[in-house]
Amino acid sequence: LTGQPLRIGVFDSGFGGLTVLRALLPRLPDAEFVYLGDTARLPYGSKSQATVARYAAEAANFLESRGAGYLVIACNTASALALDAIQSAVAVPVLGVIEAGAESADLASRTRNVLVLATDATVQSHAYARACGQRGLQTIEKACPLLVPLIEEGWIDHAVTRQVLAIYLEEAMQLARERECGIDTVLLGCTHYPLLRHVLRRMLPEEICILDSAETAAERAHRQLHALGMLSGVLPDAASSPPRDREEDALRCRFFATDSTEKFRVLGSRFLGQPIARVRHIDLGG
Ligand code: DGL
Repeated sequence: LTGQPLRIGVFDSGFGGLTVLRALLPRLPDAEFVYLGDTARLPYGSKSQATVARYAAEAANFLESRGAGYLVIACNTASALALDAIQSAVAVPVLGVIEAGAESADLASRTRNVLVLATDATVQSHAYARACGQRGLQTIEKACPLLVPLIEEGWIDHAVTRQVLAIYLEEAMQLARERECGIDTVLLGCTHYPLLRHVLRRMLPEEICILDSAETAAERAHRQLHALGMLSGVLPDAASSPPRDREEDALRCRFFATDSTEKFRVLGSRFLGQPIARVRHIDLGG
């Protein structure tokens, strides 16, 4: 670590994890980032545990080989299905997004009933239900498989997306009523869903709190890095830090994708909230 900036590896199945990188940048102003999107093999959300674990371990190895001293698994599906496999594949500390989400749900929910929206694979793993259950929360998990393609199409505040969301929410709330769960917290358990946050806000009653797993993961990464002694200086307060210099942020990040670099650049900029200048292609095996 002597004199070298901390390099953080951020992994996702695609570009959605850029919502996590976006949340990490202001919190860790002195760190460098290597981001890998396994775009050739996405979606992970519809794949089996064994496949996701193999893909994610390969990706983690790549990031470690690029000098990452700490890994953030931005992908909810990989965090839910493969955190152990990733931790065994690398020597550096690894953060998954599930625990971070459960931790903030614990702080946010008064009724102790939480609705988690996620991919099919994440829901079937029940990773969120377990992590929330350990904190005394009851969880309704709802798979929303149509949302990722709609968001990637750029259909955010779009009639079709609102309609799909309304159906998913109604089905979830129906389940909550049957189980007599008074939901007061909705956890966005997928990298893409933060882009729908504003749309959801308008659709849900005001008293329901919406938690974004990108923000909660970035907060937890920041705290953990500090606890591990991997950050120099005092714990900066993200809220009161000076406005970000986008050019400087861009210089701190390197992007890798396993499929078209151009598609990553164009779609990724939307998730990162700023232009991405350069993306390099890598192959991760079959
Ligand atoms: N990154 C995935 C997640 O957060 C969504 C996209 C995919 O299914 O690969 O669950």
